[in-house]
Amino acid sequence: MATALITGPKSGIGRGFTDALARKGFDLVLVSRNWERLSSLATEMSSTYGVGTEVIVADLSSRSDTDRVAARLGDRGRPVTTLVNNAGFGLNRSFLNSSIDDEQRSVDVMVTAVLRLTHAVVPGMVDRGTGMVVNVSSVAGWLTGGTYSASKAWVTVFTESLALDLQGTGVRTTAVCPGFVHTEFHERAGIDMSSLPDFMWLDVDQVVAQAFTDLARGRPISVAGGQYRLASRLLRHGPRAFTNLALGARNRTRRQGSREAGDRAEG
Ligand SMILES: NC(=O)c1ccc[n+]([C@@H]2O[C@H](COP(=O)([O-])OP(=O)(O)OC[C@H]3O[C@@H](n4cnc5c(N)ncnc54)[C@H](OP(=O)(O)O)[C@@H]3O)[C@@H](O)[C@H]2O)c1
Repeated sequence: MATALITGPKSGIGRGFTDALARKGFDLVLVSRNWERLSSLATEMSSTYGVGTEVIVADLSSRSDTDRVAARLGDRGRPVTTLVNNAGFGLNRSFLNSSIDDEQRSVDVMVTAVLRLTHAVVPGMVDRGTGMVVNVSSVAGWLTGGTYSASKAWVTVFTESLALDLQGTGVRTTAVCPGFVHTEFHERAGIDMSSLPDFMWLDVDQVVAQAFTDLARGRPISVAGGQYRLASRLLRHGPRAFTNLALGARNRTRRQGSREAGDRAEG
């Protein structure tokens, strides 16, 4: 029996993976912070696809919650055959204007949880000679956009390295590196995306379909959309100085904006 554990399954990219895996007949272990959102999703998945569901309420910025999820992944009596490390969020502020607690929370969710959950599940997969680990990263991992970019750079390099470790074991992994995708991500982070041209947007289904294609082909990095495949080549192989120029200017504008907002609030 195939079972998939997905973090952040209720919305956006996580929801896309959840639907696709349920459609393939996987039983589901659904993990995020909100019991109501998870249990309504579980009911919908079992009634639509007839799959088994399990819900784990966990805040992945908490070490004890993450370790509870890791314990489930390490339970060899109930093997998880696919792990999707998807949960994540943006902060939309420069490091200089951000609190250390928020920065730490983002590293806890997007780095530490990915590390610990992968470490918990992979040995069983290797022993069984089969399994998949999907780590949702971002094209931002090839940019210099603060802690978010640095975290996603870690996810991408970690996954590429894991793919090498897993060669010949029957276990596959890929880092999914999307560009801009229509999800709740930007609204939650308070990022105004109204000026982004249509051709820069991806659909969740496109990202998920590309991920499964790349997993099947054994590719450790998955980039959906021709526009982002071109951009990722330029970002990975072009001079860092060009991207730094653009991002440096954006950060100065953002810092200035925060200062003016602060002045207005005081005045
Ligand atoms: N949208 C984009 O343009 C884009 C581009 C590149 C990469 N990504 C990446 O794609 C992934 C999914 O994001 P999305 O775009 O689908 O955004 P989304 O719709 O906001 O979904 C994010 C999910 O992460 C979960 N989550 C956030 N913090 C969590 C925590 N502390 N503990 C447990 N779960 C948590 C949320 O679940 P609850 O709130 O229900 O707990 C939510 O289901 C993220 O890793 C993001 O960095 C997104």
